[in-house]
Amino acid sequence: MENEAKKKIMLSGIQPSGDLHLGNYLGAVKNWGARADEFDCYYFMADLHTLTVRQNPAELRRRSLEQLAQYIACGLDPEKNTLFIQSHVHEHAELGWILNCYTMFGELSRMTQFKDKSAKNADNINGGLFTYPSLMAADILLYQADYVPVGEDQRQHCELTRDIAVRFNNIYGDVFKVPEAYIPKAGARVMGLGNPTAKMSKSDPNGCVFLMEKPEDIARKFKRAITDSDTERCVRFDPENKPGVSNLMNIYAAVTGKTLDEIEREFDGAGYGAFKPAVGDAVIETLRPIREEAQRLLADKAYLQQVYTEGAQKASFIARKTLRKVYKKVGLVEKPF
Ligand code: TYM
Repeated sequence: MENEAKKKIMLSGIQPSGDLHLGNYLGAVKNWGARADEFDCYYFMADLHTLTVRQNPAELRRRSLEQLAQYIACGLDPEKNTLFIQSHVHEHAELGWILNCYTMFGELSRMTQFKDKSAKNADNINGGLFTYPSLMAADILLYQADYVPVGEDQRQHCELTRDIAVRFNNIYGDVFKVPEAYIPKAGARVMGLGNPTAKMSKSDPNGCVFLMEKPEDIARKFKRAITDSDTERCVRFDPENKPGVSNLMNIYAAVTGKTLDEIEREFDGAGYGAFKPAVGDAVIETLRPIREEAQRLLADKAYLQQVYTEGAQKASFIARKTLRKVYKKVGLVEKPF
C-alpha cells in the first residue's frame, strides 16, 4: 500500500473524433501500456474536447466505445490502468472553467492546434476551440500527473499546462503538480503516407492507416506511399531531402524496435520497391492482434460498460479531491452536501 502511494502518475487522452490511427498508436498509446507497473496510470476518451468541432452524435458514441476497446486491445489492462470517459467525470469541465480564468488570451492565440483547426473550420471558430487548452490543462492537473505521454504535436499544450500550473501555484501555494510531456523517440511524429510533410491525420484518409483497417487496405496504402523524387532511390535517413523514406523508416523503427542504422543496413541496395511492402507487412503484423482483440471486446458491451464505470468511479475520487482544494483556494464557499 505504501508503495502504491509513492508511484508517479501518468495520464493521457485521445479525442474520439475519428478512428484511432497509426500516429495515435505510435505517438501515444503504444507507450502507455508498458508503464502500468511503474506508474499509476489514467487514460481517457477526450469526448468533451471533440465537441469543439461538429460531431455526428451516434458516431461519437460509437467511437468512444470503440476507442476504449482499442485501448484495452493495445495492452492497457483495466485492472492496472484507470480507463474512463472524460464527460463521466464532471470535475474536468468544472476545473476547465476555473483554469480559463488563469489562462491568457495571448497564450491561447499562439496555440498551433487552434490556428490549424480554425483554418480548417473557418465557419465554426467557437469559444471551445479557443479555450480547449485550458480544458486539457484541467484534465492533467486534476490528477496531479507527473508525466503526460503524447506525440510531438501536443508538446505545446503540455507546456501551456505547466505555465498555468506554475501561475496558479504562485498565487495560491502548492496546489498542482507541474507535469512533464513524455514524448517517444521513434513515432513521436508520424507523417502522412500521401504527404510526408504533414502529420498523419484522419483528415487525409488515403495517407492515414487506421488501427481497425483490413490488412489488404494497409498493404495498398504502404505500396502507394509517396517516396522521394531524388535520384538516389536508396533507403537512407534524411528527413530534409528524403521526407517520405525517412517517415517510412521511422514507422518501421517504431514497430520493429530496430535502429535507423540497422534499417539502412537491412535494405542496403534494395530500393524503394522492396522497402515499402516490408514496412506495410511489419505494420500489418503489429496491428493484427490489436484489431482482432478489439473486435472481440466490442462484442462484449457489458464488459466495456463495467470498465468505464469503474474507471470513472476511481478517477472521480481523485478529481474530486483536487477540485475541492482549488475551490477553497480561490474563495468559493464550501458545498454543504
Ligand atoms: P489527439 O486526439 O489529436 O491525438 C491523440 C494522441 O495521438 C498523438 N498523435 C500523433 N503522434 C504521432 N504522429 C501523429 N501523426 C499523431 N497524431 C496524433 C497526439 O500527440 C496525442 O498524444 N489534446 C489532445 C487530447 C487530450 C489530451 C488531454 C492529451 C485532451 N486532454 C490530456 C493528453 C492529456 C489531442 O487533441 O490529441
